[in-house]
Amino acid sequence: MRGEPFAHAKISLYMKSEIIHPVKSLSGPLEVPGDKSISHRYAMLAALADGTSELHNFAAARDCHSTLACMKALGADVKVDGAAVKITGCGLRGLKSSWRALDAENSGTTIRLLSGILSGQEFTTKISGDASLQKRPMKRVVTPLRQMGADIRAKDDNFPPLEIRGGKLRAIHYEMPMASAQVKSAVLLAGLYADGITQITEPARTRDHTELALEEFGAHVEKRGRTIAIHDLAGKNGGAALRPCSLDVPGDLSSAVFFIAAASLLPESNLFLANVGLNPTRSAILDFFQQMGAALQVQNLQSKQGELIGDLSVKGAALKGGLISGGLVPLLIDELPMLAALGPYTEQGFEIRDAQELRVKESDRIAALAENLKRMGAKVEERPDGLRVEGRSAGKLHGAEIDPRGDHRIAMAFAVVALGAAGETKILDSGCAGVSYPAFFAELKRLAVE
Ligand code: S3P
Repeated sequence: MRGEPFAHAKISLYMKSEIIHPVKSLSGPLEVPGDKSISHRYAMLAALADGTSELHNFAAARDCHSTLACMKALGADVKVDGAAVKITGCGLRGLKSSWRALDAENSGTTIRLLSGILSGQEFTTKISGDASLQKRPMKRVVTPLRQMGADIRAKDDNFPPLEIRGGKLRAIHYEMPMASAQVKSAVLLAGLYADGITQITEPARTRDHTELALEEFGAHVEKRGRTIAIHDLAGKNGGAALRPCSLDVPGDLSSAVFFIAAASLLPESNLFLANVGLNPTRSAILDFFQQMGAALQVQNLQSKQGELIGDLSVKGAALKGGLISGGLVPLLIDELPMLAALGPYTEQGFEIRDAQELRVKESDRIAALAENLKRMGAKVEERPDGLRVEGRSAGKLHGAEIDPRGDHRIAMAFAVVALGAAGETKILDSGCAGVSYPAFFAELKRLAVE
């Protein structure tokens, strides 16, 4: 395959490690990079719009740059200048077939959301990703997209590479069997190309960035309870267009959470995080921290392009711990690794239930958490749908060698845990943090007070 010569370079890029020592506190101001979920959506919709969109504070995340590369391969003109990204779209019907397979690398959002768009194209596209992505289930998007009329082949009918033969799509009403924003988004994006009004009902609330972004770019979206409807623009209503936009991406709350956790854990901390995305379908984590006793304040709330934004201040505080289950799981899905890993520093520890989804993320996060927490001396019970991590009374953690299994959120969660442990912790393969937050370790060192 033509992509192969780069595979080695990518592997060696990931392989560096970081040594973390305990610190006294974290202090200072911080701006986390642009939100990963929102950046993906803006990049895809800008590539489908008629004209040039300007995206500010675009995510530094490697995942979002995978999306940009895919949109470029499909014919969009993409210019990147740091966090400023200009995309000249091809129009809804203007994407071109790519001469090589698209590479979503480590990004589940890229492959799943793009599958929806590719289902509406009059050509065939092959899309795959790295070894981790090739193990992640795609049946969840393949099933509804096939119902809409796309012809999709997948390895073992579930895994990448996907071969998507798009074409005329029909509108469906899909009852989503799981709470997944990626599945919802794939169906809504395909809905732009379907004949009529596509509807999707979710079993529990998930992040709504796709709905908000579609509205910004001029699509017609309606929400009724847990059902979302999208009117087609390139099916029956062929000829209608998405408009180009100038948009600011808010800071990524899921990246901020590592610093919120670190500052809470270290008593003398005083951290200020500016311009963080606080969309209510993402911000359950802040309520959760506050209920646990965190000294966390939200200021300067404002709404921009449908997205809520604000500043956060965090000081050290004793955390209670608690139980996470049911409808709270999809609302905290990306924050669960950090919460679980904080367990040994809390009064009651953490119990996570109904979160079998964590087993099919960038790694098996339940297994990765249990194994690495045990290496640091924590008391953990691993269960099929979650884990129970004992609190402070089970003893103090010690430094260890951490294997994040190539998973950015596991690497960052354990770097935070290491700040309060006795002795030195080595985070292997720490470069994987770049999947969402390339400057994470540099920022942690900048803010650390020894
Ligand atoms: C995402 C949705 C979530 C989340 C992922 C990003 C998105 O995945 O875990 O990191 O941008 O839509 P699921 O839809 O699989 O829950």
